[in-house]
Amino acid sequence: PIEERVKNLLTQMTPEEKIGQMMVLPSKVEGNIDKIEQWGVGSYFHCAGDKTQELQRRAENTRLGIPIIFAIDAVHGHCFENNATVFPTQLAASCSWDHDVMYNMGRVTATEVRGCGIHWTFSPVLCVGRDTRWGRINETFGEDPWLIGEMATAIIKGYQGDSLNADDTVMACAKHYVGYGETLGGRDAYESSISQRTLLTHFLPPFEKAVKEGGVATLMASYQSIDGTPCSADPWLMRDIPKTQWGMDGFVVTDWDNVGALHEKQFVAASYAEAANIGVKAGNDMIMTTLAFYDAALEQLKNGQLESHWVDDAVARILRYKFKLGLFDERRYCDLSAKKEIVGQPAHWQHALEASRKSLTLLKNKNNALPLNAEQLNKILVVGPNADNVKAQLGDWSFGSYQAGATDDKMHKSSTVTVLQGIKTLLSSHNIDTPYVQGAHCADDDIDSISEAVTQAQQSDVLIACIGDTLSQQGEFHDRSDLNLGGKQQALLEALKATGKPLIIVYIASKPLAISWVKDNADAILCAFNPGAKGGTAIAEALFGEFNPSGKLTISFPYSVGQLPVYYNSYPGWHSVLSDRLDGVERYFDAPKEPVFSFGEGLSYTQFNYADLQILTPKLIAEQTLRVSVQLSNTGAREGCEIVQLYIRDLYSSVVTPIKNLRAFKRVTLAAGESTEVILEVAYWDLALINRALEKVVEPGEFEVMVGTSSKDSDLLKARFWVED
Ligand code: IFM
Repeated sequence: PIEERVKNLLTQMTPEEKIGQMMVLPSKVEGNIDKIEQWGVGSYFHCAGDKTQELQRRAENTRLGIPIIFAIDAVHGHCFENNATVFPTQLAASCSWDHDVMYNMGRVTATEVRGCGIHWTFSPVLCVGRDTRWGRINETFGEDPWLIGEMATAIIKGYQGDSLNADDTVMACAKHYVGYGETLGGRDAYESSISQRTLLTHFLPPFEKAVKEGGVATLMASYQSIDGTPCSADPWLMRDIPKTQWGMDGFVVTDWDNVGALHEKQFVAASYAEAANIGVKAGNDMIMTTLAFYDAALEQLKNGQLESHWVDDAVARILRYKFKLGLFDERRYCDLSAKKEIVGQPAHWQHALEASRKSLTLLKNKNNALPLNAEQLNKILVVGPNADNVKAQLGDWSFGSYQAGATDDKMHKSSTVTVLQGIKTLLSSHNIDTPYVQGAHCADDDIDSISEAVTQAQQSDVLIACIGDTLSQQGEFHDRSDLNLGGKQQALLEALKATGKPLIIVYIASKPLAISWVKDNADAILCAFNPGAKGGTAIAEALFGEFNPSGKLTISFPYSVGQLPVYYNSYPGWHSVLSDRLDGVERYFDAPKEPVFSFGEGLSYTQFNYADLQILTPKLIAEQTLRVSVQLSNTGAREGCEIVQLYIRDLYSSVVTPIKNLRAFKRVTLAAGESTEVILEVAYWDLALINRALEKVVEPGEFEVMVGTSSKDSDLLKARFWVED
């Protein structure tokens, strides 16, 4: 019946009403709200609570009474509502490699967002995070396309639930489609140069999974152009691939003013009319913020340049989801009376805390410096700019929308536990002195309390230094050309090191910075990225061993800006076969070949041993699943969770393929001394490559399988199998 209802409604609509439905406008910009009556606008974003109900009533009073979809950027929790549940950012949460964490993050966020009258979140981000200069690295699931697809599908299922016609589900939006993280020099929205084969190999697969397995309702087009064609002007990308080839029945929304930019910024359209024509034909169904689109598209529609079937297809897609959301029926209005109980309820915080715990990644632990034993300590110095810093801890998209200029200082203050607070609470029953000295800022240092920090350090048993970056150093158009620690953080760390006291680093940042000095000099490093509002509790628990960290990096840490890009699934270098004999040929002359920390790295307070890698399907035939077994033992003294990783290499192929590609993983918890057989499976089509004719094929021949604790060669057991002709 939904399809019939869509058809019926469409036949009653005037051209004006159709174009109005194709628009999504920011509710806070003056004059936009009046366009409900003037244009019949299809969607508003960055609007919540009572306001949504008021606007919905206005829409109900228009000629056809078509309801409005309300949208928001709730990307790691419903962060725009004070005291709403704030999860770790996508980058942080991805280090859990845990489908349940992602699913619950989506579920909780959807419940809180829909409870505030909103139906659509512009999340998740499926951009591939390879250039850490880019300001939006924190919003990604890291550098690996396959893992991105896994994490994205889990969170989408959480957002969308079993049905959108419910009071606790929202439409997800897989963005930014596509290649937005790959712009030149990491500069936001600049040109990217990606061939079709590379798009099909690395950048489109996560979106394909989000559509086919996650059933994502919407995609958001990227700003930038690829090889000279703006994403929003490319019918192959916007229409053929997702809608025709993948069978997506939802709609594509542009990013902010993409259609206007075709004329004003990218200059591929000589007028707004031409931009509207190109944009709609390419497959953009909903147009974000471009006010000029309304008149321009109408003109094109009326003069026949834009055939009505293009517009009808777009409007049908939007209406389909309005019906699916139940907006024409019982869900048109939201019961806001329950909002207070829904937003930030204890069960939601429990999920956020669990996500923070599982995201924490132990990168170094010299001589078991961690966990700390509270019984043996008298004084702990907590130091550094991010020890008591709500904004740095929560990260981007937590403080209202930057478009609306809202960065409320008081937001989330009472619901956030900073690292300092977490440590003090955890140690409250112990008689331990825990002074705090900020020491430095993350950026533009105008404070210098290094000498005070040193004085306190000299009297302390251990130093916990919380360093990284802060809110002003991340986000859209906040790219960095320098990835060294900002402000006087480096000087602070060197002064602390000189005291000879054990130096524990808590890394709170939106991205991997160039921290090779820290790796060489710290006793332990706990990486949290932006761990969310309960991050301070989770970090304190990890530092004092109340739980055993199990996160693994989903992104590599570069040695320097010049070493970028430095992702693990690179192609074999021409010189790589010589590298054992002739050090230096496969790398920059003045930088190591490997990153400071690699994809998949992460330690535990226990140790794991891998043995006896066996291929259970040594000769694979078409469509058969590869099955591999490995013996995993916990050889340490306490329970721990290991994320077992499986990588594949196609040994000889018609095109050059990456040296390894992640294709399976499993989280395995073992008691001290326990062993188990771990079975890992790889779907047949995950062995495929894109050949020179741009076909997806699995080429017969020999493959290598690598299983172990990280992507580093030295951490992997290897075996071979055949794909039969
Ligand atoms: O959803 C965002 C997008 O990620 C960046 N530009 C603005 C959009 C709406 O806020």
